[in-house]
Amino acid sequence: MTVTIVGSQLGDEGKGGIVDVYGDAVDVVVRYQGGDNAGHTVVYEGDEYKLSLVPSGAVRGKIGVLGNGCVVNPNTLFEELDALSKRGLSPDVRVAERAHVILPYHRIIDGMEEDVKSDDDLAAGTTGRGIGPTYEDKAGRRGVRIGDLLNPETLRDRLEYVVPQKRVLVEDVYGIELGGDVDAEAFDIDALFETYRGFGERIEREGMAVNCGEFLQRRLDAGDEIMFEGAQGTSIDIDHGIYPYVTSSNPTAGGAAVGTGVGPSVVGRGEVIGIVKAYLSRVGTGPLPTELGSVDGQTPENGGRPGESELATFIRDKGGEYGTVTGRPRRVGWLDMPMLRHAARANGFTGLAINHIDVLAGLDEVRVGHSYILDGEELLSMPATTEKWGDCEAEFRTFDGWDDVDWAAVAAEGYDAIPQNARTYLDYVADELDTPIYVVGVGPGREETIIVESPF
Ligand code: IMP
Repeated sequence: MTVTIVGSQLGDEGKGGIVDVYGDAVDVVVRYQGGDNAGHTVVYEGDEYKLSLVPSGAVRGKIGVLGNGCVVNPNTLFEELDALSKRGLSPDVRVAERAHVILPYHRIIDGMEEDVKSDDDLAAGTTGRGIGPTYEDKAGRRGVRIGDLLNPETLRDRLEYVVPQKRVLVEDVYGIELGGDVDAEAFDIDALFETYRGFGERIEREGMAVNCGEFLQRRLDAGDEIMFEGAQGTSIDIDHGIYPYVTSSNPTAGGAAVGTGVGPSVVGRGEVIGIVKAYLSRVGTGPLPTELGSVDGQTPENGGRPGESELATFIRDKGGEYGTVTGRPRRVGWLDMPMLRHAARANGFTGLAINHIDVLAGLDEVRVGHSYILDGEELLSMPATTEKWGDCEAEFRTFDGWDDVDWAAVAAEGYDAIPQNARTYLDYVADELDTPIYVVGVGPGREETIIVESPF
């Protein structure tokens, strides 16, 4: 069977930990979208592993696959694999021949476009990893795929077509001279050919390239358990998120079929688990109706509610809400139920994993954005445009807070040992989404995770 793990909010819900917790029963862990913009932190036997591209199951010795829906920076891929090997692991990672390759010019153009957009508040606050420009080239039928790296003639043909266009874009549209601040080699066909052909040779030598859908079907036929590991989250999905402040792929569960080559019925026969953080956090720009204060210190004088920036700082610091990839402080807000109802519908969740209940411990009260008011009407789900979303005012419900306790002891005892007020909060979320709770995360480690139900 398959289990699909999906972020139900804005990314950074703690998906890596859940993949890890269920990982024992899994044979293959597959990423179906995104690239090295993702940040997974996996704590395993006391060691912390930070990964941005390699599927987190690789830490547990599972086969990791980067599906055709991913965009792959071979530099990052090999850096992460080499780092894991140095720490004594033997990661087995395959990469879809149909996956697109992030080239150095994609990162450079990502930065240039963000600069231009920042004048109009349109910048998405990207991770600068070249994700958007690579997906643009994929849709524009001018991309370079992993399979192309394996064939010198095709690789040269592709580069000869696309690289001159990138030079024109940078020089004539952005008006930036190559050389100086911009690495001219990133736009040099011969230099790119040599480096990327080298990556192709290593992929070939190590037997990493796969025809993803066929590979996975063979494993399913042989009785393997497969986990689809979503990166980012539903609200930054290019179709179902807060466009244009989104990433350029589909983290939603449908992406697991398109991004790997197994049928939607295969994904749909399995479980789809929504990962929920007990509050909200996000890097990047755009509205956030349940936001608490702002990163640079909102005060009552500049529109913040009294005490909010202190609350935001408390949650940010306690929850370690600083970007895994970029180190940027994340914006923080209360749980947003319309966002979760939207995610539950768009993904068809069969179970929930609710993380970071421990981070909210110690607060007198915990608030939840239960609904929105837009033009005098109550909305229970997100409106379809980001502009309308920005006009929504959250209607809050208040829950009594819960104390900090010995969370590892609570985890050892199970769900009923969770403080009553926290259980009231959890039950409210499960009832509103009409979806059972499978897992509760009460700390970063495996031993601080309460498994209520296992999909396998
Ligand atoms: P990009 O994916 O780098 O193009 O960034 C587009 C938007 O998605 C920005 O707002 C990023 O901050 C956000 N984003 C990308 N990856 C992640 C992630 O793994 N967690 C949270 N936000 C992300």
